[in-house]
Amino acid sequence: MRRFHSTLESVWIAVAVVLSAAWAIPSLSAAEGPLAPVNLRCEYLTSPVGIDVRQPRFAWIDRHTGRAQSQSAFQLLVASSQELLGQNKGDQWDTGKTASDDPTQVVYNGKPLESDHSYFWKVRYWDKDGNASEYSRPASFDVALLSPDDWKGNWIGGANQLRQEFTLAEAPRRARAYICGLGYYELRLNGAKIGNNYLDPGWTTFDKRDLYVTYDITANLHRGANAVGVMLGEAWFKSRALMLQMDIELASGKHVTVSSGPTWKAKNGPIVSDSLWDGEVYDARLETTGWDQPGFKDDGWAPAQIVKAPGGVLSAQMMPPIQDVDSMVPVGLTNPRPGVYVYDMGQNFSGWVDLHVSGPRGAQVQLRFAELLYDTGMINRENIRGAKARDIYILRGDGEECYHPTFTYHGFRYVEVTGFPGTPSLDSVRGHVVHTAVKTTGSFVASKPLLNQIHKMIRWSDLTNLHSVPTDCPQRNERMGWMGDAQVSSEGLMLNFDMMAFYTNFLRDMRDDQGADGTITDTVPFGGYGSRPADPAWGTAFPLITWYVYQQTGDRRIVEENYEGMKKYLEDLHRRASGDVLSFSYYGDWVATEKTPGAEVSDFYYYYDTLVLSKMAAALGKTADAETYAQRAVVIKDAFNKEFFDPKTANYTTGTQTANDLPLFLDMVPKEYRGKVAGNLINNILYEHDTHLTTGLAGLRYLFPALTQVGQASLAYDLATQTTFPSWGYMLANGATTVWELWQNKVGPHMNSQNHHMMGSIDAWFYEGLGGINVDPEQPGYRHFRIEPQVTRDLTSVSASVGTVRGEVTSSWTHEPGVITLQVDVPVNSTATIAIPEENEMTDVTVHEGDRTIWEKGHFVEGTPGVTSGTPADARKMSGAFQDRRVRFEVGSGHYVFRLTGE
Ligand code: BGC
Repeated sequence: MRRFHSTLESVWIAVAVVLSAAWAIPSLSAAEGPLAPVNLRCEYLTSPVGIDVRQPRFAWIDRHTGRAQSQSAFQLLVASSQELLGQNKGDQWDTGKTASDDPTQVVYNGKPLESDHSYFWKVRYWDKDGNASEYSRPASFDVALLSPDDWKGNWIGGANQLRQEFTLAEAPRRARAYICGLGYYELRLNGAKIGNNYLDPGWTTFDKRDLYVTYDITANLHRGANAVGVMLGEAWFKSRALMLQMDIELASGKHVTVSSGPTWKAKNGPIVSDSLWDGEVYDARLETTGWDQPGFKDDGWAPAQIVKAPGGVLSAQMMPPIQDVDSMVPVGLTNPRPGVYVYDMGQNFSGWVDLHVSGPRGAQVQLRFAELLYDTGMINRENIRGAKARDIYILRGDGEECYHPTFTYHGFRYVEVTGFPGTPSLDSVRGHVVHTAVKTTGSFVASKPLLNQIHKMIRWSDLTNLHSVPTDCPQRNERMGWMGDAQVSSEGLMLNFDMMAFYTNFLRDMRDDQGADGTITDTVPFGGYGSRPADPAWGTAFPLITWYVYQQTGDRRIVEENYEGMKKYLEDLHRRASGDVLSFSYYGDWVATEKTPGAEVSDFYYYYDTLVLSKMAAALGKTADAETYAQRAVVIKDAFNKEFFDPKTANYTTGTQTANDLPLFLDMVPKEYRGKVAGNLINNILYEHDTHLTTGLAGLRYLFPALTQVGQASLAYDLATQTTFPSWGYMLANGATTVWELWQNKVGPHMNSQNHHMMGSIDAWFYEGLGGINVDPEQPGYRHFRIEPQVTRDLTSVSASVGTVRGEVTSSWTHEPGVITLQVDVPVNSTATIAIPEENEMTDVTVHEGDRTIWEKGHFVEGTPGVTSGTPADARKMSGAFQDRRVRFEVGSGHYVFRLTGE
């Protein structure tokens, strides 16, 4: 039928030769076998400096030179000093050789951990053949303050600068600072800022919980006089309060504690006002130089005031902090009116700019931030709504001055500068990208540039909306942890970034805001916007994000911690349902271009939540609950179909894309109608909307997987690569660099943020659909997973990888007529099903792995290391048009290069 592409073939042969040579090396080398574990984690964090968990969990990644490998046992040592650990002595905990095939959630079970202590650990493992690895490199964790009694200080305030001097008789051997400065703090010791965090601590419901941050300050203190200074901003707390404790161990072993209290001094500094929405006013003439150093004359300072405690539990902040992660050089500078300068940063993002200026004392420079421009070149701030979104800097007048705000951030692409003394240049302003500094762990690249642009735009929106909670948008007078937005984006975020510590924290925030009646709120932390009870498509963030974290990691503790709360939430929904249908709704399929009844959306989530709760109950061994919720789910599904499905038309409610994709996605459609409903969805997209989507927040999330499930990945691809309204391509064509809130191109004074992550939920499908990397719900945490890429249309390659708890999973394919290659990485301790697609009506299919044949004439050929079985393509036929034939292989860990050919 078709011939192989000869260049590809020769490239392939070269690759195969190199690879087979590489495989040959280990057998000659001493390094064959298990390699020392890497990526040691404690509570999802790398050598965390402050945790307040009495039984922290350890995780690591095993590596091996061979295939189909797994851990049969491990030995983990926890020591109270580096020296002891170096001597292989786990004086705190020595697990000995412990049989286990799971390196992801090992719960500490040694001597009780103590507050304000450092611990050191390492681990080795035995492979399935009983060969031991070397020990890993050491990692550490610091236990912060485990009990409220550990706190010695008082909550103080009285001004936005607080200071104290203290003398140390000796140099410190170990020193830690524990600080909760609300709304935000900047900690300074002996003239220098401590750490790289900004906009810290994370936002919480302050009367429930307040996060403190731990710093290793050993190197910042010295024998003799020292000074500590703390600046406070108001942020979401709308007031100021500081609790600080420095626990210092001197060279002799003596302990000294310095904490916030009435002997501190207070005076307002140069930050005249600060607000997250309105920005900062900074008068450099009010700077109190030297205030954070010893020997400063603070006679004019008032005693700090003891203030009311915010009222929440003090908890260690155990997630990546907000940091200045990147700088941006402006790409353009215009002068649309006399004295008005407009910088184009070339990218919409969250953060601020550094201003470099010199001029007369008292000169006032104003920076105003915007996402849009008018045709005149002036900034358009209509969509920023009530937020002033400006910083004002008043000069000292003593030469070159550099300023950026401390306690605010903006969402913007353009910066307007007025009041600048002289003429600003491109170098007068530098952008700084500021958000929760999560690590990138995934990647997605396709041969279609448009897909890469969409992926990039979504990444920007996802990241710049991480500000200790997932915000809806970073620019206008909102920036709330809207739960609907959070839930639709969360799976994509988990595939791209190391999100687990972040979501562990966010889920706890949800629990903190949960009512005694089980109700959840639309926004978390709750306040300012949204309602209680949450719209069910928003409240679902509680069970669904828990479920996704569990799926991605196999983390049982997160399910345990949230289980009772989720159950209460589900019971509340149950009480609100009438006739087993949950119909209350505020937003439903939010900002869709075609309306779907909110009741259908709410009821879909009622079913979804009940279903996942039954699965999580089963995972925890709560069989009675698992049974109750599984049965309830069936009842809800039947009621859903009765209420919303019309068998005559085979449509749900209004027959919109959302109306039909929701039940298709969860396989709720009565079997005999599934093909027809799928047909209606396809027709709606193709003929009624000329291959355009009409979905809002909820329906969009499931449109792509639902189409893929019914064999219409190519139609999903057509929608994804659409360039006219409504589509991501349309946004890009109109200059978007982040995802819009609305499909429409609006620039007026209403709700039309240019940087909302919720419509970026397609990103999960890039990994799962096009890349084909899919968790196995029955074996979470990638213990077993599925590689099932969608090879479609003009796509000639996709390369996707996910940094999982067991190691990196890669799926990288190329397609030339008649030849599909698929490179896969399966981590040690994982197994995978590899489903390699055939071309339509392909015959005489052969599959090679490396230089061996593994599939020929319809049969699996045994003998290739790691490949345990093969099953023939089963042509699934759905809704007439569709065929999806795949040859499936079961494999163990290792790197594989498959090549499927046929006629
Ligand atoms: C927010 C959304 C949110 C919605 C709820 C908007 O103001 O920006 O993203 O989910 O309200 O209706």
